[in-house]
Amino acid sequence: LANNSQLRSKLKTDEVILKAAELLSQNQLVALPTETVYGLAANALSPKAVSKIFAAKGRPQDNPLIVHIADQAQLKELTAAKITAKTQALMDHFWPGPLTIIFPKSKKVPNLTSAGLETIAIRMPAHPLILAVIESSGLPLAAPSANTSGFPSPTQAEHVYHDLKGKIPLILDGGPCQVGVESTVVDLRSAQVKVLRPGGISRQEIADFLGEEVLLAADLKDDTAVAPGMKYRHYAPNKKLYTFNFEDKLFILKKALKKAESKKIAIISARNSKLDNYQLPTKNLKVLKVFSHQKPAELAQKLFALMRSLDADPEVEEIYIEELAAQGIGEAVMNRIQKAAAAEEYSQPGGGDN
Ligand code: TXA
Ligand code: MG
Repeated sequence: LANNSQLRSKLKTDEVILKAAELLSQNQLVALPTETVYGLAANALSPKAVSKIFAAKGRPQDNPLIVHIADQAQLKELTAAKITAKTQALMDHFWPGPLTIIFPKSKKVPNLTSAGLETIAIRMPAHPLILAVIESSGLPLAAPSANTSGFPSPTQAEHVYHDLKGKIPLILDGGPCQVGVESTVVDLRSAQVKVLRPGGISRQEIADFLGEEVLLAADLKDDTAVAPGMKYRHYAPNKKLYTFNFEDKLFILKKALKKAESKKIAIISARNSKLDNYQLPTKNLKVLKVFSHQKPAELAQKLFALMRSLDADPEVEEIYIEELAAQGIGEAVMNRIQKAAAAEEYSQPGGGDN
């Protein structure tokens, strides 16, 4: 769809797109869909506009924003240095798409957009609505996920409305997002290619394309290597969330099944899960078989919506999720799940009760 130039040029003259472009050029905010999650957009070159993003989301000012473009020609005013062959190759291959690249920033980009960093994160999203708005306004758009800070990212217009109603003048509804987790943030500025945040394009895909190893910054000892935003406990539902598997975390599942005697439990599991081998309690238990281990992209697409709906469900007190392999897009999915669960991990009991 994103590459359908006929649709894009038709959209450019659409009344709603024109309204969005007008608001943005007046330094107002507009929420709109991308292929990953909904974004809360503002003119990236206006400190006044960008400050409204931080205010509406309640976002810490030390967390830099991603700038969205519709055409590589827009890089010129955003970046200072010459673009390397490797960066050019990645852009040509993966854009439009869920890959964000770190560039040295030009003086034209306000410090507020980059949170004081000398670098700027840029991507070309693969969704016809945001691309049409960028083209129609002629502006590079700074856009974080359109959730209140600390909530799961919005993958439907309803989620944006829930978090930001009354705070922004316009939400464009493009239906549910295709990818469901945010873009991969990659840093190509040193010899070793690093993923600062795993996301919609897997580390393996980038490694295969470049023909070299791609590191995960979180695995390195150097704390400064990861994206500033990764230190926050994102994506968190209010209810306690635990992960289990059928190897070293089976005891967590067993505890959950026991707890169901007195608590309302929801389990998100795979279809054809080993859970099928267990005698399950008949009350207090909701089992949602919503993905397959062969297709982690299915869970990526649904994860944030599930967190939101289970959080709002009075029939659920605690949430348990079956782990999947941290491979392909599974790496991003497990990263988001672990962040949501982080504060609530069980420790393995002595005696190895698994
Ligand atoms: O898929 C996405 O990337 C979505 C859609 C709306 O495009 N946007 C998104 O933005 O997830 P946000 O603000 O929620 O996350 C941006 C991430 C944060 O972890 C931030 O720290 C990192 O990118 N980031 C931004 N600029 C950076 C920079 N110059 N250096 C390192 N990390 C950066
Ligand atoms: Mg976010």
